[in-house]
Amino acid sequence: MKKLLITREIAAPVIAQAREMFDVTVHEGGALDGAAAAQALREYDAILPTLGDDFSAPVFDGNLRCGILGNFGVGYNHIDAAAARAAGVTVSNTPDVLTDATADIGLTLILAVARRAGEGERMVRSGAWGGFGPKNLLGTHVTGKSVGIVGMGRIGQAVARRCHYGFGMEVVFFNRSPKAVDFPARQVATLAEVMGADFVVVTTPGGAETTKLIDADALGAMKPSGIFVNISRGEVVDEAALVDALERGAITGAGLDVYENEPQVPARLRALDNCVLLPHLGSATAETRQAMGQMALDNIIAWSRGETPPQAVN
Ligand code: GLV
Repeated sequence: MKKLLITREIAAPVIAQAREMFDVTVHEGGALDGAAAAQALREYDAILPTLGDDFSAPVFDGNLRCGILGNFGVGYNHIDAAAARAAGVTVSNTPDVLTDATADIGLTLILAVARRAGEGERMVRSGAWGGFGPKNLLGTHVTGKSVGIVGMGRIGQAVARRCHYGFGMEVVFFNRSPKAVDFPARQVATLAEVMGADFVVVTTPGGAETTKLIDADALGAMKPSGIFVNISRGEVVDEAALVDALERGAITGAGLDVYENEPQVPARLRALDNCVLLPHLGSATAETRQAMGQMALDNIIAWSRGETPPQAVN
């Protein structure tokens, strides 16, 4: 039996199926650091890793036993896929199954920031609410506003569709290649143009090509009434520049599901009332997480049969 390491506890039916086909170890104790990842690559035939595990280039040095990293998650910026390929390790991911759940978190953040849901919730819980008031916690209308999507991939399109069909919003988007979509949306040529929308939602992949794409200049192109949402990867945004813009009131608010150094969230950001801060919940529904686990395992099963995993990325 091939040895499979699952680096975090995932849905029980997926682990049960894995145990029928592999000699399975479920790692306890959180994310693998580089040393643990390097050791796992020497001890296991297959690994089912996830976000936070450190599979950067140096861990692929030397003689490896492992032939596949069947990643749990669509984003795999914690894995150096080119170094893996050079070491003979296939990498796969879990696209599509998490698109709707992640887009829903985008809308959760748009609405929560615009309607000041975080502040309101804190007010009620603290006992500070004094009753209905015509001018209490006035927010920003969402229906009919414009939304700018940065990165019109699967998740970007799912956010845009919700904004257009659900909220009658005008959709503009910035994407590195021309993209035709089947709903009304206008592709713009520059990042600055998309940043000028009422709501800006970042849905690009992470990685070297997009690191700090949203810098002080890009944020400077937002309107003072603008609301910024990031559901992609923390590294895509210059977090210090974002905090600065929020503190100065250069933008109205931000909704964040991801951070530059997860799980560290800067104290200055946590101190800001005009932010809604979620702990990387994009794909966190029971249904989606089970589907992700199943897809990751299916890729490993395909590899173990000598087939090309359907969601191979390298
Ligand atoms: C989660 O962020 C994922 O990439 O699946």
